[in-house]
Amino acid sequence: MFKGVLFDLDGVITDTAEYHYLAWKKLADDLGISIDRQFNEKLKGVSREDSLRLILKHGNREKNFSEAEFNQLAKTKNDNYVEMIQAVSPKDVYPGILELLISLKNAGIKISLASASKNGPFLLKQMELTNYFDGIADPAAVKAGKPAPDIFILAAQVVGLNPEECIGIEDAQAGIAAIKASGAFPIGVGEAEQLGSDIALVQSTDELTLDFLKKQWNN
Ligand code: BG6
Ligand code: MG
Repeated sequence: MFKGVLFDLDGVITDTAEYHYLAWKKLADDLGISIDRQFNEKLKGVSREDSLRLILKHGNREKNFSEAEFNQLAKTKNDNYVEMIQAVSPKDVYPGILELLISLKNAGIKISLASASKNGPFLLKQMELTNYFDGIADPAAVKAGKPAPDIFILAAQVVGLNPEECIGIEDAQAGIAAIKASGAFPIGVGEAEQLGSDIALVQSTDELTLDFLKKQWNN
């Protein structure tokens, strides 16, 4: 049996993946760079700085900005995003997630956060979920962001486990790659077209019951 579940946040626990997209889209529009939802699939799960690098490269503008200007652009996106998430509340928790957290707790399975977002702790607080988490991996403490495995390795470590003892849940291409590279067992929220047809997938988070997780683990 698995001993821990390592959760991505944006797009798994709540709909903030959409807010990240809207905030990046506004920044890109202001720079005259065109991005769409298909391009956004590459940004999901990716750190703030790496996302900005991908957008600037996409618009052939990567050499146009000094380090200070780059940091200012990243800050502008985050300021806009932070404004959007002020109203996030327990009502915004995706279907089935609270029930899953409760069943995991009752079963003595560790719960850890493996989000690339520095806004993760704030969002957990807004949704009143902080107390369910036995650990939170600090994205500022890892060398390489997703698709590198570091954040999932750290998320397992902070609850005293190896990734091999854990399930990882993700909605992003980069996140699934990170889970696989860490040695944890991947479950994807989304479509095979984006996440691959070689892993367990759910279309909606209310399919993520403890029974479902056990079934996939034992498969
Ligand atoms: C990930 C999101 O969870 O966090 C990405 O999927 C985002 O879209 C990344 O870029 C970093 O988030 P933040 O809040 O630290 O800018
Ligand atoms: Mg995500």
